[in-house]
Amino acid sequence: MASLPQPDLASPAFLKDLASVVGAQHVLTAPDDVAPFFTDWRRVFPGSGLAAVRPANTEEVSRVVALCAQHGVAIVPQAGNTSLCGGSVPRAAATGRVAEIVLSVARLNRIRSMDPLNDTMTVEAGCILQNLQQAADAQDRLFPLSLAAEGSCQVGGNLSTNAGGVGVLRYGNARDLVLGLEVVLPDGRVWDGLKALRKDNTGYDLKHLFMGAEGTLGIITAAVLKLFPKPSASATAWIAVESPQKAVELLAALRGLMGDRLTAFELISRVCLDSVIKCKPSIPDPLRERHPWYVLCELTDGGTQAALNERAESALMECTERGILIDVALAQSEAQANALWAIRETIPEAQFTNVKHDVSVPVSSIPRMVEEGMADLARAFPGCVGYIFGHIGDGNLHYNIGMGDEAGTREFMQNIKAVNEIVYAVVERLGGSISAEHGVGQLKRIAIKARKPAVEIELMQRVKDALDPQGIMNPGKVL
Ligand code: FAD
Ligand code: MLT
Ligand code: ZN
Repeated sequence: MASLPQPDLASPAFLKDLASVVGAQHVLTAPDDVAPFFTDWRRVFPGSGLAAVRPANTEEVSRVVALCAQHGVAIVPQAGNTSLCGGSVPRAAATGRVAEIVLSVARLNRIRSMDPLNDTMTVEAGCILQNLQQAADAQDRLFPLSLAAEGSCQVGGNLSTNAGGVGVLRYGNARDLVLGLEVVLPDGRVWDGLKALRKDNTGYDLKHLFMGAEGTLGIITAAVLKLFPKPSASATAWIAVESPQKAVELLAALRGLMGDRLTAFELISRVCLDSVIKCKPSIPDPLRERHPWYVLCELTDGGTQAALNERAESALMECTERGILIDVALAQSEAQANALWAIRETIPEAQFTNVKHDVSVPVSSIPRMVEEGMADLARAFPGCVGYIFGHIGDGNLHYNIGMGDEAGTREFMQNIKAVNEIVYAVVERLGGSISAEHGVGQLKRIAIKARKPAVEIELMQRVKDALDPQGIMNPGKVL
């Protein structure tokens, strides 16, 4: 990587130049103004930088990036700042970079066009995910990306992390929902790849380089997103199972009985349910008895609600008779379905403090991941507790480890490296990944380097060097 020219930080010229592009009120430097941009949602990656800059459109992004390239100032792209791995905040001090700015895309928040007949919408990177779901809904379409942070995360961040969430089983990850991209490259040039085509075999599919790159290769400013038919019926069930093994068997059984109608399949441990009820005591336990494991499952279809309910009831009955599930509560109204989803969506908030992991293994290995991981951890840290939940339809577990109480967990967190090593060793044994959907950011950089084949890391570095020879895009993240 070429060494950066040393910016003259004593001179206000650079900040003035930025202000001439975006307006002085959009170059934030006062400590109170920059604070929300310089630390992450969980407040575990505090950072520092020169300024937070808020361009309004692609042209302004391009001019800001060109200025940074000229002055050798590094850029941290930021969207909703809900990253769980410290990807969206500066870390100038740690990387030895002289200067970094946060470039927020939040003001690029227009839906440029809707094309319901092509089932697409063209949107800017700062659109909040929930607003896009609602815009699709207003056109009688579905935009299926869905995660608990959807009220604050923005689509530029979703695509840059290749976000997952609860709809992956049926609709795929964020990258599967994209037809075209507009990207500002690290030298300030704009690549207009905003094609709304489902077929286009004209060489390398460059958009996939930028998705999942976590802002290390350029800045996504707009995207053409796929829309889907809006289901007219949905059934939500809270299901008690004996073990993760039974949950996996239930997934296979329901896929067999319901096919693609199965849109979400989330595993939730009793420990997680207890932590949710403790965090929000107004949330009720959906079933009368206590059970060790639950599945929250959603089925959607295009026919009538009555027809789907009948099918769902018959499938769940069959699974009960086959001994796969213990008990089930099928929501009888939208309000009941929302209440069941509220349990699931409160888990991240209820799990604020613990050692987090976001791992994936083949679905068939989920039971071994739970059992072997917890056995190895218990040997090293007697009494530790697994707050395990996640998108097991995709083989993705959030494998959070604590000590059962706040004080114990805080002390236990000093062992974070040893805990990671134990969990990662099981993941490796099972052919899994140590970052299923949250990305690498600054949290897992070293860990992926130690685990990926050297040739893969070398190829990644060569791509990075080719696109960003100055190394100004989100330094100290991913690689
Ligand atoms: P940010 O946090 O702002 O940025 C994320 C990364 O993308 C950073 O590296 C940043 O530099 C880069 N970036 C941002 N915008 C751009 C851009 N325009 N161009 C280039 N790079 C850019 N994640 C999941 O996958 N599934 C979940 O189910 C899920 N649930 C969550 C629940 C909660 C409560 C929270 C707090 C987080 C959750 N996350 C989940 C993690 C997070 O929401 C996702 O990673 C999300 O996609 C990040 O979007 P964002 O807009 O907040 O991006
Ligand atoms: C989720 O599925 O809720 C998340 O990815 C967030 C988390 O792991 O805390
Ligand atoms: Zn998740």
